[in-house]
Amino acid sequence: MRFPPNLLDEILRRTDIVQLVGRRVKLTRKGQAFWGCCPFHGEKSPSFKVENARHRYKCFGCGKGGDAFRWLAETEGLSFPEAVERLAGEAGVELPKWSPEDEAREEKKKSLYDVIEAACDFFEDQLRANAGAEARDYLRSRGLNGEVAKKFRLGYAPSGNATLIEHLKTKNITTDDMIAAGLARPASEDRGVRDFFFDRLMFPISDARGRIVAFGGRGLTPDAKPKYINTGETTLFSKGHLLYNFAAARAPAIKAQSIVVAEGYMDVIALVRAGFEHAVAPLGTALTEDQLHLLWRTAPEPVMAFDGDAAGLKAAHRAAHLALPHLKPGYSVRFAFLPSGEDPDSLLRTSGPAAMRKLLDEAQPLSQVLWRALTEGRDFSTPERRAGLERALGEIVSAINDGKIADYYRRDFDQKVFDAFKRRASAPKAERRDWKPRPGGPRQPGRYAPVETVSPAVKASLLARSGRSGAQRMKEAEVAALLLEEPELGTRHAELVAELPFSDPSLDRLRHVLLNLAASGSSLEKQGFENHLHRLGLSETVARLSTRTNPGPADDEAISDADDARFLKAAGDLREMAELGPQRAQAMERFKSDGTEESWREAQRLLGPTRSD
Ligand code: UTP
Ligand code: MN
Repeated sequence: MRFPPNLLDEILRRTDIVQLVGRRVKLTRKGQAFWGCCPFHGEKSPSFKVENARHRYKCFGCGKGGDAFRWLAETEGLSFPEAVERLAGEAGVELPKWSPEDEAREEKKKSLYDVIEAACDFFEDQLRANAGAEARDYLRSRGLNGEVAKKFRLGYAPSGNATLIEHLKTKNITTDDMIAAGLARPASEDRGVRDFFFDRLMFPISDARGRIVAFGGRGLTPDAKPKYINTGETTLFSKGHLLYNFAAARAPAIKAQSIVVAEGYMDVIALVRAGFEHAVAPLGTALTEDQLHLLWRTAPEPVMAFDGDAAGLKAAHRAAHLALPHLKPGYSVRFAFLPSGEDPDSLLRTSGPAAMRKLLDEAQPLSQVLWRALTEGRDFSTPERRAGLERALGEIVSAINDGKIADYYRRDFDQKVFDAFKRRASAPKAERRDWKPRPGGPRQPGRYAPVETVSPAVKASLLARSGRSGAQRMKEAEVAALLLEEPELGTRHAELVAELPFSDPSLDRLRHVLLNLAASGSSLEKQGFENHLHRLGLSETVARLSTRTNPGPADDEAISDADDARFLKAAGDLREMAELGPQRAQAMERFKSDGTEESWREAQRLLGPTRSD
């Protein structure tokens, strides 16, 4: 539903944002505003400001800020409509009336929630009753007690054709509603209406707000076919949009800035019991885009915990490819591979929480998993195979919609290709046969010797970039692209241009060409400069930089103030980054040795500015 803007203003106006934020952050008054330590990044002195007059909060340290809706999204993972509903309720603002049809549909839904709730109660009671003895034994055999059953509202659907149906009838629930809620199968030619679940251990599935909307039912015997039956799609339940345990995991996930995705219900329960409260699972299907966005509402890099066997790898690759088009700065996925044949449930039982924690901590980044999928165990001893690899990597990069991220992936893959195929002159010839890409362990000089190196262009660009952070290389390219777009900048800011800390030799050359032209008094218009660069053999550099610049209005007039400011800012950033280099290296070292969050954040800070700008 769309909300009229003045209604949103009304809600914000009536919301005491200081009080709202104050529930989570200790605030102290200073003049008109309130200040506290920012909840989004670790800090000891307050740089986080909340103002009722402006209805906003803002951190001057990490830059996060927004209104009360944003606050609920950031701290509780609420979607926008959820945040609006919550605050409207608290502020006593009435949301617009639904149309009569909408209202009827809402009423219908409301009654279905009640139907499912009644069924859940029934299943829970049955688990505790005589009928549930076998199910209780089964739970016990899997190490689960009554307390866990209560927490997850586990239940038992008794055997028989219509036990649930008969029970719900006593509550004046119609069979139509039972069918609509996915609890009963409609009558067919030879059979009447009958229970959807029978003789199964029941796992209630709730929506993001914690309302039960469906069930998964597990057979109690090893030969039960299928092992799990899940509620089909209903007006309340769409399996691709929800995650098991999401409502309960949301707050702990936001707090931990991490969320774990397992494959099954039992895994989630085992994880939660072992202290990993931020665990969820899809509902019997591969992860969907909607589920990925749900995960990103809680943590920037959800960790997928997959089985280490072939099926798990396949599922991981599917999830990896699913994520590519949706990646956005700061948001990705990571993968924790369990030993073959294990799932989180069994691993926790055999090896304990510490082993699980270690696996999660060591989760691999998406780019690494994609690289391994294409290279591990393969032989790249011919140029054709290597070209094939470069093409497959290129396809991955082009599946990424975000330009910045695609750029980083291209560089990351370039680097990986380069590292893997580096010619090792000292390698004995005999060993060339068993050349394989290096899996990423410590380098063993001379061990592997590919027959050919990668294309010289790739190599040159990699060598040029080595030792520089990705962010800095991006910034260099940005500055150079601006010069290419507006060569006049070379005259106007000659001194600044001369001092630009370009580490990429081709950009360094471009700068010299520009300064020479400027010094000789030649006209500096875009096309002429480009032609000049082409003549000097810098076509590749021109092409690389041109893909970055947005085709602005063709103007051969004076440089606009905006362009000038953009250039000055980019050049300033670049200089700062170059100067930060040694500090950054130190920070990384510190992080490597102490591994604390604080040193990680410091390193991250120095690695910037890569956030949206
Ligand atoms: P698994 O087969 O890995 O089961 O399926 P599990 O969760 O480890 O269960 P246990 O430990 O054998 O009891 C993972 C998930 O796939 C869905 C369920 O959501 C399950 O939790 N699934 C599996 C089905 O929907 N139907 C099936 O027949 C099997
Ligand atoms: Mn299992």
